[in-house]
Amino acid sequence: MTMTPHTERRARLLNGMQRGIAIIPTAPEVARNADTHYSYRHDSGFYYLTGFNEPEAVLVLIAGDNKTILFCREKNLEREIWDGYRYGPEAAREQFGFDEAYPIAQLDEKLAELMGNQPVLFYPLGADADWDARVVKLRGTVQAKVRSGIRAPDEIRDVRTLLNEMRLIKDDHELDIMRQAASISCGAHRRAMQFTRPGQVEYQVEAELLHEFCRHGARHPAYTSIVAGGANACVLHYIANDAALRDGELLLIDAGCEFTGYASDITRTFPVNGKFSAAQKDVYQIVLAAQAAAIAAAQPGRHWNEPHDAALRVLAQGFIDLKLCQGSMDGVLESESYKQFYMHRTGHWLGMDVHDVGDYKIASDWRPLQPGMVLTVEPGCYIRPADGVPQALWNIGIRIEDDVVITANGNEVLTEAAPKTVADIEELMRTA
Ligand code: GLY
Ligand code: MN
Ligand code: MN
Repeated sequence: MTMTPHTERRARLLNGMQRGIAIIPTAPEVARNADTHYSYRHDSGFYYLTGFNEPEAVLVLIAGDNKTILFCREKNLEREIWDGYRYGPEAAREQFGFDEAYPIAQLDEKLAELMGNQPVLFYPLGADADWDARVVKLRGTVQAKVRSGIRAPDEIRDVRTLLNEMRLIKDDHELDIMRQAASISCGAHRRAMQFTRPGQVEYQVEAELLHEFCRHGARHPAYTSIVAGGANACVLHYIANDAALRDGELLLIDAGCEFTGYASDITRTFPVNGKFSAAQKDVYQIVLAAQAAAIAAAQPGRHWNEPHDAALRVLAQGFIDLKLCQGSMDGVLESESYKQFYMHRTGHWLGMDVHDVGDYKIASDWRPLQPGMVLTVEPGCYIRPADGVPQALWNIGIRIEDDVVITANGNEVLTEAAPKTVADIEELMRTA
């Protein structure tokens, strides 16, 4: 059989398990109300290992035998007339390269057999209470066969310990998709800059983003878009997106599409009228310099927190220069007085999930960055009105966020095509 990225990943997980059985369910469909469901989204770990996008499916792996088994919905002409094509076990087995495939209705019965005499059960423990109960009950069924000489697994391990480490290092297939996701999202940010004018409502700009995502095959955003004009930009998770955009204010957009199961995550901040004011530019240049310092620190062998530390140093000095903070840079870092204006971290892993899986520390140390890791770099500055804060800077909220892959020699910024220098933004908006 030819190896696909998914069969190769299953083989690697089997290898990591060494012994035992893994049970990995996909996500359930979720009802919105009456007869409608939310758009279906698979479980990322399941999809990473299968490429199979139907609900009601479970992957079973047996180490030792190196066997891969899919349980999925049966063909059903009546349901397919209403809801569309479903593979059914036979076609799914062939198409997706499993050793065996069975109807999902046979899951409990088959699992009770397959679990017998397996020493370890790998499973995403605690991810879903219903599945937890089902799996523990199944294990009980196997345990009840003890007098026939069959033992139930006496160890249960969280399969995500192995799986999440695999997902943290993106393979070439994944990086290709992430480049496409990033490129579509860059197009959307450009479109938003070209479209934005005073008097529009935030949701009208959001509509432009969604239009650009969808027309390139990215049917859904990777997270709810933040389209925050003026003071709204100082609300970190602002998603109301229903305020009018005013002349003289900035617009912060944090938006990225999900494309073929992979997220992009971009923030740009630009003037609603196309021209930065002097005060806005002062703050913007500091955030941009902090981001440049952080990206420069995102190198193989440097540890996870180095980009954050690099951004903090630039921001702390900038906040002193702007009279937002007082004292020395070391003093500002030590006292954490910068947190009044920069209260989040500088990034997170990015992949199938926007805040992707993977540990940030190994034991108690920040982990070293390695080629294939993808992270965001997203410093910001959020200035709420307060005593002692220069009034000229009130309600300025700025974040600049890019998606960065660690490479063998440095890094690759996937989202460079979204303008972020003052000159490039003003030029794009002027010529729109
Ligand atoms: N858009 C979510 C984040 O930037 O983390
Ligand atoms: Mn982010
Ligand atoms: Mn973001």
